[in-house]
Amino acid sequence: MDKLVVEGGVALNGEVRISGAKNCALPLMAATLIASGKHGFSNVPRLRDIKTMGSLLAHMGAVCEHETDYEIDTSDIHTLTAPYELVKTMRASVLVLGPMLARYRRARVSLPGGCAIGARPINLHLKALEQMGVDIVLEHGYVVGEARRLRGAEIRFEQVTVTGTENIMMAACLADGVTVLKNAAREPEVVALADYLRLMGAQIEGEGADEITITGVGELRPSRCEVIPDRIEAGTYLVAAAITGGSLRLTGLRHEHVRTVLEKLVDAGVSIEIGEGFVDVRGNGRVCSVNVETQPYPGFPTDMQAQFMALMAVGDGVSLIKERIFENRFMHVLELERMGADIELDGRTAMVRGVKKLSGAPVMATDLRASASLVLGALAAEGTTEINRIYHLDRGYEAIEKKLSAVGARIRRVSGRGE
Ligand code: EPU
Repeated sequence: MDKLVVEGGVALNGEVRISGAKNCALPLMAATLIASGKHGFSNVPRLRDIKTMGSLLAHMGAVCEHETDYEIDTSDIHTLTAPYELVKTMRASVLVLGPMLARYRRARVSLPGGCAIGARPINLHLKALEQMGVDIVLEHGYVVGEARRLRGAEIRFEQVTVTGTENIMMAACLADGVTVLKNAAREPEVVALADYLRLMGAQIEGEGADEITITGVGELRPSRCEVIPDRIEAGTYLVAAAITGGSLRLTGLRHEHVRTVLEKLVDAGVSIEIGEGFVDVRGNGRVCSVNVETQPYPGFPTDMQAQFMALMAVGDGVSLIKERIFENRFMHVLELERMGADIELDGRTAMVRGVKKLSGAPVMATDLRASASLVLGALAAEGTTEINRIYHLDRGYEAIEKKLSAVGARIRRVSGRGE
């Protein structure tokens, strides 16, 4: 297993270009199943999760090529199963359920099971599909869905779910009649998916608000689009500048997508300047401790909670960090404590008492964003940190050690065998 070795204490300086968003590219790739033919996407990041989705589509008969753009030809889909081996490595594989049901009226998708950040069931996806007339049975660890026709329905999600909203929005595109999604997710990735579906000929209104209306059409056709910038990668580099007391210019991002993160950084005493196509961020010594509560978009993203906790670990006071989306997304706490952080957990709240310095230590990555928080802690720490199990990072951060070393970080990947 590869590990990252980081010698901390360098203020980062320079420019970082933000990559395309994994959580935008994945649903777009799944959406190709709805319309037979050649689809193309630009700005697709080179990440393990993208490869996994490519393998899943290839397993089903699609031809996928990632050159400059990502090309997917879905003319010859022959298998309507998403197997356990692929779904277990990436929950987002469930995104093929809606498109398969829309086009083929049949799908067999492995249940994802638990993951490092909580139980994360897909009951809300399934309930909505049942409301649209899909018969769902669970057999041998698989969800098997079948419908003679999909019919439009009024669906209220009990809880905001991002991939749930995406799955049902895709299913509804070819359903009979009108589907109304209430309490829908408002994430920019949902909006980007609606934009692509519309390019394919779908009739969708209201995305970006909490009520989305989809009027079913007879058929969709393939198209091309660009993946939006990764707002979580952007947020992570914003924190990297702040935590090292450095100065970075981030390009290729959409500042409006990171608004709540920028606001919290400003509250913490970090300087932010927004320009045409860039955001400049400058750390000003020790940050002020601020409280954070994760919420669905446009609130503070759960995918930035761990990274913000690393920053608060070296804050000048006490910070309360509440995780409202996932019940168990605090796996990074024990690892940050190994680096000298002072954090007390009480249910869904972490009380972080800022320390002057973190100290380098061997630590272990447990999920994607937890891993990012350890890299951030390591960049600020005194001495050397070894981060093990970094395959998690490779799922979601394109060329992270290259991007960081280009702005001065002393970080290198060491390949190793076994764990
Ligand atoms: N939930 C249910 N039942 C469902 C669906 C969701 O109880 O049927 C619960 C979940 O357990 C969770 C909450 O609802 O407590 C919200 O989960 P959501 O469904 O929104 O999460 P997701 O769609 O599986 C996406 C991102 C995650 C991100 C969350 C929240 C993708 C591919 N994944 O997951 O990204 O954390 O939304 O914003 O878009 C990451 O990139 O590291 C990542 C985990």
